[in-house]
Amino acid sequence: MGRNPSALLVLVLVAMCCAVAMARGSHHDQHHEGREREKTFLLQDMKRVVKTDAGEMKVVRGSKGWISDLPNIHVGFVTMEPDSLFIPQYLNSDLILFIRRGEARVGSIYKDELIERRLRDGDVYRIPAGSTFYLVNTADSQRLQIICSIEKSDSMGWGTFQSFFIGGGSYPTSVLAGFEHSTLSTALNVSESQVSQLLTRQKSGPIISLSNSHSDPHQSRAWTQFLEMKHYERVQCLKRMVQVHEEEEATEEDEEPIMWLYRKLLNSVFGKQVSGKDEGRSERPDAYNLFDRRPDFENNYGSSVALDQSDYSPLGQSGVGLYLVNLTAGSMMAPHLNPTATEYGIVLRGTGRIQIVFPNGTLAMNTRVSEGDVFWIPRYFPFCQIASRSGPFEFFGFTTSARGNRPQFLVGSNSILQSMRGPAFAAAFGVSEERLERIVNAQSESTILPWGSASEERIPEAIRSFGDEMAMGFEGIY
Ligand SMILES: *[C@@H]1O[C@H](CO)[C@@H](O)[C@H](O)[C@H]1NC(C)=O
Ligand SMILES: *[C@@H]1O[C@H](CO)[C@@H](O)[C@H](O)[C@H]1NC(C)=O
Ligand SMILES: *[C@@H]1O[C@H](CO)[C@@H](O)[C@H](O)[C@H]1NC(C)=O
Repeated sequence: MGRNPSALLVLVLVAMCCAVAMARGSHHDQHHEGREREKTFLLQDMKRVVKTDAGEMKVVRGSKGWISDLPNIHVGFVTMEPDSLFIPQYLNSDLILFIRRGEARVGSIYKDELIERRLRDGDVYRIPAGSTFYLVNTADSQRLQIICSIEKSDSMGWGTFQSFFIGGGSYPTSVLAGFEHSTLSTALNVSESQVSQLLTRQKSGPIISLSNSHSDPHQSRAWTQFLEMKHYERVQCLKRMVQVHEEEEATEEDEEPIMWLYRKLLNSVFGKQVSGKDEGRSERPDAYNLFDRRPDFENNYGSSVALDQSDYSPLGQSGVGLYLVNLTAGSMMAPHLNPTATEYGIVLRGTGRIQIVFPNGTLAMNTRVSEGDVFWIPRYFPFCQIASRSGPFEFFGFTTSARGNRPQFLVGSNSILQSMRGPAFAAAFGVSEERLERIVNAQSESTILPWGSASEERIPEAIRSFGDEMAMGFEGIY
């Protein structure tokens, strides 16, 4: 493999240490130093950035942590009630959406054109930084759950990401409100008082209900209709809205002015209804379904899928990859490391254990996780995930590399232990070649291993008796 032999030796030692740590798993849980340390690589500082009757958005910031020059992403969780809208906005960050559950319609501006896509469970879709977009939960009765990576595309520090709302009023505030009203008045060719009115209507927050049962029905309806239009019509719409309002001002000032305004507006727009949304050129961005993809690896104990720019080119512009792992009850993803990426994982279903090892061969974290937990694994750190015996363990995540991040397996039949057998290697451990062979051949499975029997049978006696020698080995190296 053409690599520095001492680095490999460290990897192998770490691998074995990991195996031993697992064989002794339950002890480690107990006498590891306190809960603080145990949760080092869990991201627990979840902040709610949006909360309305119709939905919410929470964000957990990625830690900069141990290796500071690496890109860092935040993980966002959006929940929207049936028939609701996340009003038009743009972010200073690249967004990769993953539809966890439900159906969505997402509209975004791509090369000055509005593109709408219907998304369903498992779909992945990128929205570039600075591109205006909105999200609609189209289902009548199902809640929409989205998990997204939020990656700042410029390198100007790691402050939190920022939303810029286009639609808006008193809450949220539209970015248009930032301009002087005289400027907008000129730009829109309307009076300043009309500008003020335009920018104070929206009060229900960034996620609003489109059904008339909640929030302001006039607003809901207006937004609903707004969503039926195409981009250029929306521009027209904005203009007309203002014009119509002007007439309205003069005539009937009190009676349901907004309602009247929107109805009139919509009638005029509906006069020239537009054709289907998805027709058009093929180079426009599309979604990619992660659940439909054939697993890259599959055996009796589980499956794994990784998605990078070679499969879904928009990821290349973001520098983010995705993966999905499904372990059967009691199975484990063999100890491995990511040579080119930091990884952020989110538990989708079930419970399991994440073990992470420092590069110096000490246990960094050994923690039980369950649905909704977010963990991160710094680049180079060896780790493994183990499903609890009670049921399957599904997790999903983002990696900070859009080019195939090929995990290096430390244990199993596809591991570097297998590739590195031979007299020199045995000598590196100070054991006979025979003994090394025995250890290396004991595990016949690769990548996803039947952990259920591992603690008793699969991890050979030899490795256990190696424990002390390895500990000495580490002392020698560090
Ligand atoms: C601005 O509005 C006035 C009347 O409302 C109209 O006559 C004029 O053409 C408009 N100007 C532009 C640049 O659209
Ligand atoms: C994961 O595997 C379980 C069965 O072990 C299956 O029911 C479930 O649908 C799988 N999940 C995904 C996302 O493929
Ligand atoms: C191993 O590295 C970690 C993180 O740098 C450190 O906290 C720990 O004390 C080290 N352990 C040993 C035995 O060197």
